[in-house]
Amino acid sequence: MSFKNRLDRTNIPKHVAIIMDGNGRWAEKHKRERTFGHQNGIKAVRQAIEGAAEIGIEFLTLYAFSTENWNRPKEEVDMLMDLMVQAIESESKEILQNNVRIKTIGDIDRLMPETLVSLQDIIKKSSKNTGLTVVIALSYSSRWEIVEMVKVVAEKVKNNEILAKNITEKTISEHLSTHFMPDPELIIRTSAEKRLSNFLMWQASYSEFAFIETLWPDFTKETLFETISDFQQRERRFGKTGKQVKDEQ
Ligand code: IPE
Ligand code: IPE
Ligand code: MG
Repeated sequence: MSFKNRLDRTNIPKHVAIIMDGNGRWAEKHKRERTFGHQNGIKAVRQAIEGAAEIGIEFLTLYAFSTENWNRPKEEVDMLMDLMVQAIESESKEILQNNVRIKTIGDIDRLMPETLVSLQDIIKKSSKNTGLTVVIALSYSSRWEIVEMVKVVAEKVKNNEILAKNITEKTISEHLSTHFMPDPELIIRTSAEKRLSNFLMWQASYSEFAFIETLWPDFTKETLFETISDFQQRERRFGKTGKQVKDEQ
């Protein structure tokens, strides 16, 4: 039986975030350039989006390029940006047909103008869609996001729009770039690396983590379903005891 049929449809996470890692190692395994790995990563993105839509996930955040990734060799950065434009162009018809809404988080002003134009085009065209929201984390890092949030909140405090003593966790969440969605119940990282790499640090406070061996280009819908099936076996306690959690069910 496929993992899809085994899923408890009453316990599908609303928000799943994925750190798409391992393209370079996948290419190395196939004795090819890193570029080849990134190109093959696009297929996996399509699989993740289709799989998420099939089981009714509401938000899928994909970590595509971090603030620190700007420090990679210029050829690789340029190639990744070109690939982004190509992928948006080749996938846009399907995205629009499938009622998928595209959004981004991150410092997209750092992107090259061509990349930004094609990105903004698909964001605009898909903005009224009501199905799965795919959030692409691009030129994103959690520390960058927190710094931006502090600047905005500090400005509001200065202008007496917010009183410092009234700042709560909700104030912070509402001023982060992820304000439009719930925190991810599940964060998946491929390629067996066990770290966050500056991803959603505030939002991950109570996320479940799945560090899986699969290299990103090999990720399929079935990988997603299997990982969610594993997530569904876990008991999320939020600081309470196991007994309290069971009693509340
Ligand atoms: C993930 O794969 C893609 C990006 C970070 C842009 P990597 O390029 O990090 O692949 P590895 O980690 O070198 O295998
Ligand atoms: C994290 O992957 C960022 C993305 C997947 C976009 P990296 O491959 O850049 O992370 P580190 O440097 O190994 O932590
Ligand atoms: Mg990597």
